Amino acid sequence: MSHDDATDPAELLGQDYWDERYGSSQKLWSGNPNPQIVERLTGVTPGTALDVGCGEGADALWLAGQGWQVTGADVSQVALDRATAHAEKAGLAAGTTWERVDILTWQPPVQAYDLVTASFLHLPSEVRDDVHRGLAGAVRPGGRLLVVAHHLSDLHTAMRRPGMPDMFFTAEQVAAVLSAQEWDVLEAAAPERSAIDPEGEPTMVRDTVLLAVRR
Ligand SMILES: C[S@@+](CC[C@H](N)C(=O)[O-])C[C@H]1O[C@@H](n2cnc3c(N)ncnc32)[C@H](O)[C@@H]1O
Repeated sequence: MSHDDATDPAELLGQDYWDERYGSSQKLWSGNPNPQIVERLTGVTPGTALDVGCGEGADALWLAGQGWQVTGADVSQVALDRATAHAEKAGLAAGTTWERVDILTWQPPVQAYDLVTASFLHLPSEVRDDVHRGLAGAVRPGGRLLVVAHHLSDLHTAMRRPGMPDMFFTAEQVAAVLSAQEWDVLEAAAPERSAIDPEGEPTMVRDTVLLAVRR
């Protein structure tokens, strides 16, 4: 996954940019769930889940396949139409709902989900904390918040990442918006994983991973 050719942070925020981006290709992402999600959520008792910035729906569909009742939310209708079609093809339509939202203005329902995930939802620093607060606010007591993103150190690898350091963040920065009275942070880390670079060569990348449970 990469944001390859975008250069202006403001362009990365809106529906027009993302609809055009998804519309430019039949398939933008691999279709596989993100390994950090699979690793941390396999075997967790399913409930209700919200995946914000769900894109073509790979994580949401994997969750639905594990028995979760998932709402996939994204700013791009093109991505959501694709996710809907994938869900139908996979026989997972009953376990999935798709909503077009702009997380910069949409307030997720408060304490409504057993799990809230956001994978590779990169936003400028000026809005990011508020977005993460909103995501955290949607987790009900006993539920999990799992945020995964590209780590800033990937800018020094062969992977194509946007040359916009302001769009990257650490797990500790996400953890900092969580009240210590209300949350147990299970993991705030930058684990390595193997990947294939745009030239087809194996490489190592790092992800930002924040996993927390609301008390
Ligand atoms: C890099 S893609 C990741 C997609 C998916 N989570 C995955 O891992 O394959 C980022 C996604 O965030 C969505 N997005 C960007 N800005 C958004 C916003 N303001 N509100 C909701 N979704 C947004 C994009 O449309 C895109 O699908």
